[in-house]
Amino acid sequence: MPQIQPTINKQDIVCAETPAPPCGFVVFGASGDLVRRKLFKSIFQLYTQNLLNDNFYLLGCGRTKLSDEQFRELAKESVRNNSDFISSQDMNVFLEKLYYIDGNYDDADFYQRMRKRAGGLNKKYKGIENIVFYLAVPPFLYATIVDQLKHAQLSCSAEAQKNKNIRLVIEKPFGHDLKSATQLNEHIGHCFDESQIYRIDHYLGKETVQNILMFRFANLIFEPIWNRNYIDHIQITISESIGVGHRANYYDKSGALRDMFQNHMLQMLALAAMEPPVSFEADSIRDEKVKLLKAIRPVDIKTINDNFVRAQYSPGKIKAEQVKGYLDEKSVAENSKTETFVAARLFIDNWRWKGVPFYLRTGKAMKAKDTEIVVYFKSVPHSLFASVGLDEMPPNVLVFQIQPEEGMSLSFQAKRPGSKICMTTLDMNFNYKNVFLIEMPEAYQRLLLDCMLGDQTLFTRYDSVEASWKLLEPVLQAWQKDEAASYTYPAGSESFPQADDLIESDGRKWRNISVD
Ligand code: BG6
Repeated sequence: MPQIQPTINKQDIVCAETPAPPCGFVVFGASGDLVRRKLFKSIFQLYTQNLLNDNFYLLGCGRTKLSDEQFRELAKESVRNNSDFISSQDMNVFLEKLYYIDGNYDDADFYQRMRKRAGGLNKKYKGIENIVFYLAVPPFLYATIVDQLKHAQLSCSAEAQKNKNIRLVIEKPFGHDLKSATQLNEHIGHCFDESQIYRIDHYLGKETVQNILMFRFANLIFEPIWNRNYIDHIQITISESIGVGHRANYYDKSGALRDMFQNHMLQMLALAAMEPPVSFEADSIRDEKVKLLKAIRPVDIKTINDNFVRAQYSPGKIKAEQVKGYLDEKSVAENSKTETFVAARLFIDNWRWKGVPFYLRTGKAMKAKDTEIVVYFKSVPHSLFASVGLDEMPPNVLVFQIQPEEGMSLSFQAKRPGSKICMTTLDMNFNYKNVFLIEMPEAYQRLLLDCMLGDQTLFTRYDSVEASWKLLEPVLQAWQKDEAASYTYPAGSESFPQADDLIESDGRKWRNISVD
């Protein structure tokens, strides 16, 4: 397809970032998988981009016994494995900011030692303004850690908060249903105010996801047509080629609805469909997102099979490689019904979207990694070119490509050169990497910086978590009681008949999953 690249002036893309103030970062689960895969790399990148304050330290806390030196080795290895170019000078200075303390999360003495250690570091690194507690631990530990922080006077006490902002970062999943999310929130609320709680949804840190707001509200031409009069439907896809791998212990109790849909997918839907916020303030944006989530039509249990499809991968091939089925993965319960794929048709009952279907799907062990939000506009009302055989006009399609490459494209029709009236579909294509000539930052990098800066815009507020659990509660219950259909699909599939039926019964088609 023909490609059009926009021209970007250099001065347009110079946009200075605000560096973090002096900060102490206390990470629980510091020797764990998430810290190794994402956190070290992201914090190191902030450091190399001069976005960390000189007075920054990271105190890792975990059950594994490690010395500061061993922890630094672990960090070094993880940064090296996940980054391209690293100068050893940068690395050495960075590593000196890392410290470690081990203990049991339910042992009060651990927190006393932590307090002493953090106190010493606060003195060494002058003027610390923020203390961030980052919970990179399994969710069942959240309440214990929050309680212990309180008892050790590391969080809510007047002394802890003297001259410091105390913040709590919590990874998803936030609860596993409405009741548990409410309980967890109440529990945390005894010690932390909503303004101190940063619930991470790393999809909100992805550039293209953030770009949805800029695209919609910084351009005049799209917003007037961003509604039921011009948009036929919207598709949101998160397709992953990886299976559950070593995470089956967690995943088998969770499934795609809790793992991806309740958070990443509904947050993307909210950004794509919400009303214009009154300002770019965190709460204005979060107010609009929650209004949108509350406007999604409640799920009718009687028609659940028509609007939600769940499935599990069976053995198959991904890129010519034989892949085992979900039930054969280690730590998956025998006869597990846990879904690794969900597709849904949702409607938003408000003035803007009444009658416009939103088709969402996410799955593991699919054909390829491909994440996108696709807006299908309506077809022209009448074809002027019917007499020359062009009675069906393809609609304009706008794509926010989030993964594997971040970008955007808009398709439209144009005349092919020549004496005959021939039409061709052109794609205006913009790829972030090619245009801005930079490596796209890791989503966590942005989120960690925002947290140190005290900007909650890209973190989910509790009412939004609550609204999404509320919406999905009937589905969770029906699936748990096994009152709804469940299917299988061979690993490496692009789709399967029941997922296709969900959209094809409306006379529409899923967009092809692009191969990375
Ligand atoms: C996580 C899920 O939140 O997102 C994982 O728990 C999933 O199951 C991951 O693989 C996908 O993230 P990304 O950024 O690779 O699309």
